[in-house]
Amino acid sequence: MEIKIGRNDPCWCGSGKKYKQCHEAMDEKIRRYRDAGHIVPERSMIKTPEQIEGIRESGKINVAVLDAVAEKIHAGMSTQEIDDIVYRTTLAHGAIPAPLNYEGFPKSVCTSINDEICHGIPSEDIILQEGDIVNVDVSTIYKGYFSDSSRMFCIGEVSEERRRLVQVAKECVEKGLEQVKPWGFMGDMGEAVHQHALKHGYSVVADIGGHGVGLEFHEDPFVSYVTKRGEEMLLVPGMVFTIEPMVNGGTDEFCEDEENGWTIYTWDGEDSAQWEVTVAVTEDGFEVLAW
Ligand code: MF3
Ligand code: CO
Repeated sequence: MEIKIGRNDPCWCGSGKKYKQCHEAMDEKIRRYRDAGHIVPERSMIKTPEQIEGIRESGKINVAVLDAVAEKIHAGMSTQEIDDIVYRTTLAHGAIPAPLNYEGFPKSVCTSINDEICHGIPSEDIILQEGDIVNVDVSTIYKGYFSDSSRMFCIGEVSEERRRLVQVAKECVEKGLEQVKPWGFMGDMGEAVHQHALKHGYSVVADIGGHGVGLEFHEDPFVSYVTKRGEEMLLVPGMVFTIEPMVNGGTDEFCEDEENGWTIYTWDGEDSAQWEVTVAVTEDGFEVLAW
């Protein structure tokens, strides 16, 4: 149930402005899309400028943490050492690593090497080898605001094949970002990501995707890339979500580590690469809040 707000009442977003001077026109427009049969965002998915500012600050720390990892990462180091860098750098900024204790996750960051698609758990026993490709997925909570982004790192001399996978996975995110604009659709973004991967002979994992982010680690909507232009959720200013396609060299099928219950591997043992951004839909396009 939704109680209709008077035009002179305070806006539902908490801005303190009158509804007619704040979200009324946007709500009307969204209603027209909904009436035309489109999936539209809930109000809870539309952030206020203050909330976006909070996520932006969180995102700056997330980027600083990834930069600290980028500076130190090298062959011969353990993924536990990456975890230590993430933990210490995050705390030094007055923030908290979101993965730590999240649904029982034991570490501060995910480190996923070669055929690991995502959710690799840092360990003293896992040593980065020359030729590895590794995803470092950092997520930060700052003053209650969440940000989430990841990068790939090539360790020393990496094969041409692996470098190409890493590069194309990054381009997939860039192609997706280009499609993020108000009154477009999530499917515009997804199709651009998917087509770019397919064009290079890769697959994109269908059942693991991005997510709304900001007030929680994982919010609605689920962000898929196996989608079509003009379909999926309408994009409106104030939405914040991640684009984080998992691009596989072989099949998109995967399996889960039975012992640790977290790490996801490619089914066929082929390599996988992933980059992740936190992005906001703005009045005229998009703003990357963390990468
Ligand atoms: N950072 C991952 C994401 O992009 C989530 C990891 S959950 C964790 O959504 F518990 F494994 F950290
Ligand atoms: Co994410």
